[in-house]
Amino acid sequence: MKIKNKVIVITGGTRGLGAAMKSDLAAKGNKIIVIARSINRTCFTNKENVLNVKADVTREADIKKIASRILKKFNHIDIWINNAGIWLPHAPIESMNMERVHQMIETNLFGTIYGSKHALIQMKKQKSGIIVNIISSSALAGSPRSSGYCASKFAVSGFTKSLRLEAADYGIKVIAVYPRGIRTSLFDEERPASYYKFMDSSYVAQKIICNLEKSKPCNDLIIKS
Ligand SMILES: NC(=O)c1ccc[n+]([C@@H]2O[C@H](COP(=O)([O-])OP(=O)(O)OC[C@H]3O[C@@H](n4cnc5c(N)ncnc54)[C@H](OP(=O)(O)O)[C@@H]3O)[C@@H](O)[C@H]2O)c1
Repeated sequence: MKIKNKVIVITGGTRGLGAAMKSDLAAKGNKIIVIARSINRTCFTNKENVLNVKADVTREADIKKIASRILKKFNHIDIWINNAGIWLPHAPIESMNMERVHQMIETNLFGTIYGSKHALIQMKKQKSGIIVNIISSSALAGSPRSSGYCASKFAVSGFTKSLRLEAADYGIKVIAVYPRGIRTSLFDEERPASYYKFMDSSYVAQKIICNLEKSKPCNDLIIKS
């Protein structure tokens, strides 16, 4: 089933994987709402089917406001992709900056919880919808010197599996995506040694969209090159 004429929210859709999904889904004729902090002002792009909204996923009030704005404008939400995320350069626990770890957990975990909550409030009324949580292969196994990031992603994975059971009775799908390394600005502060072997963001975006277009999408999608 082609994804067309859908109302799709992508958090963190200005760069990296989010931007790649936005381009592909907009080209297929969907209405996309992109959420990120660095957007200067809320406006449609010149393509008219992409609405850029300045917001911070760590603030529930921002997300609640956006959800109600989308409903006023489009009446429903078909797909909500919780993609916004941050990462910290590898470090042993004793040298981790706890303020930054808090910020990362706020973004990766609470950003996903807030997005899912406000998407679900509407999707339960519609009795339809898909939530896609972009997690990471870092939620599949522990990794030394990456304990904070792994903790945030393991938590999102547990949240996603629970939400899936909660939403199933309403005809709502909750999909978890676990990509391996992708070459994006996530690593602007410090590139891992294997960075140049990582996947291209457009390859990962295609895998995610391809899965959504299947008659029975995979609930736990692991993406590796
Ligand atoms: N790159 C990888 O190797 C990899 C592998 C597996 C999973 N992932 C996951 O994939 C997702 C996307 O990562 P990426 O690699 O594409 O990263 P990226 O290139 O750094 O893009 C991150 C996006 O998230 C937005 N963002 C960050 N914090 C936000 C906040 N508080 N509120 C709203 N938007 C926020 C950024 O925009 P602003 O800064 O303007 O807000 C940007 O649009 C993340 O969840 C990441 O953990 C990445």
